[in-house]
Amino acid sequence: MAGNNETYDMLLKLVKTRMSVRKFRPDPIPDDTIDKVLEVASWAMSGANSQPWEFIVVTDPDTKKQLRDAYSEYNTDFIFWMEQQREYKLRHPSYQVRGDPQESLRFNKAKANWHQAPAVIVVLGDGRRQWGTVMGAHTFGRDQSHLTDGLANASFLIHLAIASLGLTSEWVSIHIQEPYKRILGIPDLLMVYLIIPIGHPDVPAREGVRRPLNETVHRERYDMSKYMSNEDVIRYLYSLREATVPVHSASRAVTVEEKK
Ligand SMILES: Cc1cc2nc3c(=O)[nH]c(=O)nc-3n(C[C@H](O)[C@H](O)[C@H](O)COP(=O)(O)O)c2cc1C
Repeated sequence: MAGNNETYDMLLKLVKTRMSVRKFRPDPIPDDTIDKVLEVASWAMSGANSQPWEFIVVTDPDTKKQLRDAYSEYNTDFIFWMEQQREYKLRHPSYQVRGDPQESLRFNKAKANWHQAPAVIVVLGDGRRQWGTVMGAHTFGRDQSHLTDGLANASFLIHLAIASLGLTSEWVSIHIQEPYKRILGIPDLLMVYLIIPIGHPDVPAREGVRRPLNETVHRERYDMSKYMSNEDVIRYLYSLREATVPVHSASRAVTVEEKK
């Protein structure tokens, strides 16, 4: 396909309007939406075209609730206690809640509402498909994984396709896979990579936040004036939190009062 400015403008508009939403309305979505979204995802790039992904589409309310309860019980609990190790302002926006830790944990466990979304796509990875790619891509000790790179590409295409259909989605990271495997009957050898709820947002649209390009782009060779020392990175993290905590709260419609 010959590229042109119109196609570029459409793409830029799409990537800028896509946003993570953490509060969904239960309203149904058109029947063929999921098929359309997964068709796009299947065109993701992957090492040696090994296509290491599979998808489970869950619409049954009881199963969605089980997945979400497992998320609160295992994932949220684990992450919550990990975040307590950090200085308050450096914590992930979700875990900047003051007061009694147990109460704050209960608040965090209860607030995930993605089971309300009409559909949830569970992205699975099959590591054996990496056998299709070069051995160097799965050498122990090297920070490369053609498995997770491919899964991330497919997942992002799901998010973009959803945005192109006027819907919204959330990237629900999985840190502890076993409970979802039990609920969905997933074979041990496969990896539960990601949960993507999709549906209509229950929060208003908002503008995203990104680093300016002149900070991240180097011309011809690495520009050391842009290199961040470890201390710079911590300073950056503080400023990032200042910018993204309100955006994050808006994505799940948490009020300042609720956060106290
Ligand atoms: C690797 C990765 C992990 C993420 N984990 C979560 C998550 O567990 N829960 C969540 O609600 N959003 C998660 N996100 C979404 C990011 O918070 C979000 O993309 C980022 O803040 C930019 O906001 P935007 O998507 O609205 O542009 C994750 C995104 C990525 C790529």
